[in-house]
Amino acid sequence: MTRRPLIAANWKMHKTNQEAKDFMKELLPLISDLKDVDVLVCPPFTLISSVDQGREGSKVLLGAQNMYFEEKGAFTGEVAPAMLKDLNCEFVILGHSERRWIFGENDELINKKVISAFEHDLIPVLCVGEKLEERENGQTEQVILKQLENDLKGVTEDHLKNMVIAYEPVWAIGTGKNASEKDAKEACDLIREFIHSRFGSETSDKVRILYGGSVKPENVSMYMAQEGIDGALVGGASLKADSFAKLTKF
Ligand code: 13P
Repeated sequence: MTRRPLIAANWKMHKTNQEAKDFMKELLPLISDLKDVDVLVCPPFTLISSVDQGREGSKVLLGAQNMYFEEKGAFTGEVAPAMLKDLNCEFVILGHSERRWIFGENDELINKKVISAFEHDLIPVLCVGEKLEERENGQTEQVILKQLENDLKGVTEDHLKNMVIAYEPVWAIGTGKNASEKDAKEACDLIREFIHSRFGSETSDKVRILYGGSVKPENVSMYMAQEGIDGALVGGASLKADSFAKLTKF
């Protein structure tokens, strides 16, 4: 089973509209010869339209970094799935560790968001991963399995096939301390085994599993060479067009 590699940019809380437009203008010619790789850009809400306009004529995919699960209503400061569809988003990052640990999102909420994303034809990029102390206490597997179990409750096989799951160990995010290829592969294999045990091989063969955490042009090929790692979710190194373009050419 060959899965199409996916290189995804998570810009987090960075850039103005002008900067987003400049980025896209610089990026497109740099990746115009790409063939068998999907490229996804996930800007903050305020830049989604600029990236959408900037990607015209290319195959770049568009995603948001979060959403609320409700349709509409009195939820000040939140953004609904239909609003993301309205802006032509195809993907949405859910359960990022910064949402979990800075903004207090729990698995129950993340699960509601995952279900809602599928209902609105948005593909979730679900992030899971352990904190440093959990790794040091030998709890890595347990933490990842619990997150998967709870975040994917009620998700159907059909939906799951299109899903993207990112293994992002919290200690590797923004720290420059990227996981070894062995640790990253082990965690990605664990995630695929979980999907296999619950949903069977047709589904587990299709789900794309990414590694994220201090991925850079210098280390991306080491991850991409691992069977079972289908791509990367990149923060810091995705902010400059030339660096992001290099990542897509692992
Ligand atoms: P860095 O690439 O900056 O470590 O961030 C990773 C990340 O959190 C992507 O979602």
